[in-house]
Amino acid sequence: MKIVLLGYMASGKSSIGKKLAEMRHVPFVDLDDLISEKEELSIQDIFRIKGEIYFRKKEIEYLNDILLQKDNFILAVGGGTPCYGSNMSVINDNSTSIYLKSSLQSIYNKLSDKKNKRKRPLISELSNLELKEFIAKHLFERNTFYKQAHYTVKTDNKSKKEIAQEISSNMQ
Ligand code: S3P
Repeated sequence: MKIVLLGYMASGKSSIGKKLAEMRHVPFVDLDDLISEKEELSIQDIFRIKGEIYFRKKEIEYLNDILLQKDNFILAVGGGTPCYGSNMSVINDNSTSIYLKSSLQSIYNKLSDKKNKRKRPLISELSNLELKEFIAKHLFERNTFYKQAHYTVKTDNKSKKEIAQEISSNMQ
């Protein structure tokens, strides 16, 4: 069983992925953590020192490595992963993909929190007013990719546990 969780920043991919992996007794992999580990730099530092294009190249490389080599896992990818190169087709051809769909408002509520904003290089310098506009535009552009996922699960007003259970019960 290979499951890929995708969706916008702060849609709960990693925390839901961890819960789901526990329930299904399969390993959990977080693509950002893996990139950071392999590159021996935080995601912020990769963006700052090496630039976004370098990050996107590494993202493609490690995504392909995991999808092609490892069996049985739950993988949480970054918010931008499905939107570069042929990543979305590679994901769909090699796993069951699930889009965790959160509303603009709930994404904004989470990302406007200082702690969440600081660790995300694409938004860390934006004021909250700019942030709302940025998310609206970005989400609209990215939706073309996200909606190609095999399944969509709405996340608003549900706990992480409920979402993981919802996904798990549809996997029986
Ligand atoms: C990004 C999302 C981040 C991380 C990087 C770029 C994006 O992951 O991969 O900062 O382009 O949306 P999360 O979705 O886990 O925040």
